Amino acid sequence: MKRVLQSKKPLRGDISVPGDKSIGHRAVIFGSMAHGLSRISNLSGGEDNLRTVQAFKDLGVKISTEEGETLYIEGKGWEGLTAPKNIIDCGNSGTTMRLLSGVLAGRPFTTILDGDQSLRRRPMQRVIDPLSRMGANLVGRDGTGLAPLEISGGRLKGIEYSMPIASAQVKSAILLAGLQAEGVTIIEEPQNSRNHSELMIKGFGGEVGLDGRHVSVQGGQTLHGKDVRIPGDISSAAFFLVAAAVIPGSQVVVRRVGVNPTRDGVIEILRRMGAEIELVGATMETGEPVADLKVTGRRLKGVEIGSELVARTIDEYPILAIAAALADGVTVISGVKELRFKESDRILAITEGLRSLGVEVEEREDGLTIRGRETLQGNKVRSFSDHRIAMSLAIAGLCAEGGVEIDDAQCVAISFPTFFDLVD
Ligand code: S3P
Repeated sequence: MKRVLQSKKPLRGDISVPGDKSIGHRAVIFGSMAHGLSRISNLSGGEDNLRTVQAFKDLGVKISTEEGETLYIEGKGWEGLTAPKNIIDCGNSGTTMRLLSGVLAGRPFTTILDGDQSLRRRPMQRVIDPLSRMGANLVGRDGTGLAPLEISGGRLKGIEYSMPIASAQVKSAILLAGLQAEGVTIIEEPQNSRNHSELMIKGFGGEVGLDGRHVSVQGGQTLHGKDVRIPGDISSAAFFLVAAAVIPGSQVVVRRVGVNPTRDGVIEILRRMGAEIELVGATMETGEPVADLKVTGRRLKGVEIGSELVARTIDEYPILAIAAALADGVTVISGVKELRFKESDRILAITEGLRSLGVEVEEREDGLTIRGRETLQGNKVRSFSDHRIAMSLAIAGLCAEGGVEIDDAQCVAISFPTFFDLVD
């Protein structure tokens, strides 16, 4: 349980957020699959990233931490992986389970991947289908597409696959299998999802074909170890972008945040709502665009957020819903059914959270309509043990009369262990 009190003053400061969770997973995975030494700095320290690190240790990869947060990975290529002695526990991490499925699809041994109650409810059929077509054998619990997943890998062949939903996790799983397969693998996405895997394949010396919504890889590629510095996580920065944007008079700078155009929907939406956000000192860090984000607080207005923004914004809807609850007028969010399959059913969790703070919300199967208010009413709220819901409600607490009391708030450690140090 955690109490967050109303902030009586504008927010001021210069902060840093942990390394990007998505890029962190991929740095550990590609470092483990490459030949030679990779040095990964600014890994988040969040539980999800640590699950991926532990998974590759379980698969026989030598990974050590010598200097502070820098991770050293001694990769021995795809053939360097060995059968784990136990079930691999992916905890709460969908990215660990789905991307690892792609790696293991090509390895000639059997592995069982499991996770917590939340991960056991999340759909895995979306990786089972394409990876099975490539020749791997994946079986979900009692024949359902749910974890635990038993994966027996082996010789794979490239496929052409048109993805029914935009998902960087599914795309990355297929790419990881495709790199080990015979022939070419071509993926078509309905909407471009985050491209960190594609950038990292290139960074580790591999080749990937990009053509609009098509991504392709040739099988049999060898990757080479590399130094990677992980940029700050825009999905973690988003909580403070919104906090500063909605509290008039605030001015906050978030340092060295990844601003990859496949991830920056939150900036575009906040700007449409009237927020002042400046990108300062834009540069590139190991293939990813990075900038300082400077936000100035003022009253926002409600907007329509259509389905064309889903892939670029997927993890930021909970915190954008808090911005909408404090904006003038109505915000309509549509085409976001995927939110029902995240760490919690986020449409349900946002609706319940906002209603308990006095906000008028209409819940639809694939979206939400939120009527903004001047301030929020303080209350006890539920995180559903979902890190992004807990952090969004904490930011709401800064703007709620009497603050909020959040159950199971320690789940913020999934992606942002130091979150409350910055809020308090
Ligand atoms: C992620 C992709 C997104 C996102 C998740 C991390 C990734 O999931 O919601 O938090 O690292 O590839 P989907 O690609 O399944 O939408």
